[in-house]
Amino acid sequence: MKAAELKHKYLEFFKSKGHTIIKSAPLIPENDPTVLFTTAGMHPLVPHLLGIAHPSGKRLADVQKCIRTGDIDDVGDNTHLTFFEMLGNWSLGDYFKKEAIEFSFEFLTSKKWLGLDVNKLAISCFEGDKDSPRDDEAANIWIGLGIPKERIAFLPKENNWWGPAGDSGPCGPDTEMFYWVGNEQTPKKFYPDDPNWVEIWNDVFMQYNKTKDGKYETSKQKNVDTGMGVERTAAILQGKKTVYDTELFLPIMNEIKLLANDYNEKHIRIMADHLKAATFILGDEIGVIPSNLGQGYVLRRLIRKAIRLGKLIGIQNKFCSRIAEVIIKIYKDEYPELILNKDVIINELNNEEERFSKTLELGLKQFEKIAKGKEISGKDAFLLFSSYGFPFEMTEELAKENKLKINKKEFDEEFKKHQELSRTATEGIFKGGLADASYENAKLHTATHLLHAALRKILGEKVQQKGSNITPERLRFDFSFDRKLTDEEIKKVESLVNEKIKEELSVVKKISSPEEAKAEGALAFFGHKYGDKVSVYDIKGFSKEICMGPHVENTKELGRFKIVKEEAVAAGVRRIKAVLE
Ligand code: ALA
Repeated sequence: MKAAELKHKYLEFFKSKGHTIIKSAPLIPENDPTVLFTTAGMHPLVPHLLGIAHPSGKRLADVQKCIRTGDIDDVGDNTHLTFFEMLGNWSLGDYFKKEAIEFSFEFLTSKKWLGLDVNKLAISCFEGDKDSPRDDEAANIWIGLGIPKERIAFLPKENNWWGPAGDSGPCGPDTEMFYWVGNEQTPKKFYPDDPNWVEIWNDVFMQYNKTKDGKYETSKQKNVDTGMGVERTAAILQGKKTVYDTELFLPIMNEIKLLANDYNEKHIRIMADHLKAATFILGDEIGVIPSNLGQGYVLRRLIRKAIRLGKLIGIQNKFCSRIAEVIIKIYKDEYPELILNKDVIINELNNEEERFSKTLELGLKQFEKIAKGKEISGKDAFLLFSSYGFPFEMTEELAKENKLKINKKEFDEEFKKHQELSRTATEGIFKGGLADASYENAKLHTATHLLHAALRKILGEKVQQKGSNITPERLRFDFSFDRKLTDEEIKKVESLVNEKIKEELSVVKKISSPEEAKAEGALAFFGHKYGDKVSVYDIKGFSKEICMGPHVENTKELGRFKIVKEEAVAAGVRRIKAVLE
């Protein structure tokens, strides 16, 4: 069964169980400050896991494109990937453990659906600790469905607990499904670290809210959040040992092999993985380009690592964009944004490859010079970073290959000295969890709508949103406009927003179809794909936008609005950073 059929079947199955199919969100999260990338299908749904009604109802399912960098050192083995597709189904305060597990079991084992062998299925459940009891309830549901006790393991939080990304937020125990891929027809004893037992699906029971002081409160709404890896499951259905042997990788691997002089399976796998992730990040609806900060830095690391490995296997010429062409061909029907942004993907890969090729060889020579003692100093690592464009992680890898230590602390100190921002580029996740961040987030989100409307009133309707990003501290709003704003214009925009805050306008949410919303004059962010139903936030008489939320209920909650920066980000695109005081 090809991956496309697996995805189709999954959505059909959950449709038949009363779920509404929603669209994949962008890889760059718009308003979630706790992550750099969408790492799971649940991220775009966080406001709804916290209780805001979703316009498509309480039962949802989708295929979500994801990027995970946490497992990056494992990439190149049989199953770990940086970019992957996740199948997910959600209950937002609707069904809970019993139905969720029954759905998973039926989809995996029924002949009508995947028809996998029950005898090769094993399960892990939460073993219990001071915060939450052992999940016998989940285990007993599995036993009732025919999974023998010997193939159910109880494991601690590190294994069987999901969320939150920050220090606080919705979370709970999970139950994970593993499939036997070993050569023996009768599986060996279930042991989750055995690579022949591959984790394919995770059902999370989000019944707690972790507070800032580390307590687990029972949440008002009990949710189910599940995630199934498309590439892994497709490999299993095709009887393949590794995701790299499926149609989602073979053409990419083959193209790399055509260009290489030396064969090194692991290098080729990593190159295929990293260039796929880079292609999707560049081609995302929101998208970023390589830089030394945040998402752009992750993107740079992925591309530069692929280039370095390319050199190691003897590829002489530029190759990244050629590989991207193959990747786009595989995914273009399901992800039309890759075609829409094809020029950006190709140009940015070419530019980055040109930039890095100039310094790579010199940098490697420099590395040899400094790789004399037992340790690479932070200063030397920083020199490689600043003068030769070596991401820290690359120098770290080179150090490892040469059995050398590296002084990260000193590197960070050097880095800080040279950056206007104190946040290091290698640290993407903000302090403070979702729950504490969420009210500040909602306030800044509402302020963003006021700003957008004010800009259009003062500068004219050619102003269009190009991007938005919110951290607990500030909002950032990119919009189309062809020149610098005058001081007077900035003041006017600021005053208009503050006026609307003083007017104590209520923020009202309405559900409608995207067409209806647009007909009523609601602004939509062109970069998004919308589902059948959308939420429209109306700030009475002033602003109307299609948006997922969250928002505050009344503009009076915002305090005072202040623009702290206005600058250019690209030709014809300005950026405003603003805070609430
Ligand atoms: N959010 C859960 C995961 O990613 C389903 O495993």
